[in-house]
Amino acid sequence: MLFSKFVFAFTLINLIAYAFAAISYGPIRKFTICKNENCESFCEVKKYKIKPGESIKTNECTEIFCLLNFSTMELSCGQEIVDGCLMQPDFTKKYPECCGQICTNKRN
Ligand SMILES: *[C@@H]1O[C@H](CO)[C@@H](O)[C@H](O)[C@H]1NC(C)=O
Repeated sequence: MLFSKFVFAFTLINLIAYAFAAISYGPIRKFTICKNENCESFCEVKKYKIKPGESIKTNECTEIFCLLNFSTMELSCGQEIVDGCLMQPDFTKKYPECCGQICTNKRN
């Protein structure tokens, strides 16, 4: 009984965490590198070069996708308040595990 309550609460917290995830779309950032006759195109965003259809997980707790049309999509944590804490990312982990890990400014 106690166990099932715990599992339920845990699932609920996970749902909340994902519900608050933020998506932002960037402009087309196409970058082409040619070596002799062979050219390859990437999305260039921040310091990253990403192949179309692929994504990378940054050290800033985000995941950046390079779409097939070379526009970019970035997933990041939303704001999450749990038990009076504004939860901040744990930057030692990758997205989405980094989201909402550290309690800041707890008031009571
Ligand atoms: C690129 O593709 C995405 C997903 O297919 C679409 O949502 C977006 O509007 C496109 N961007 C441009 C600038 O065409």
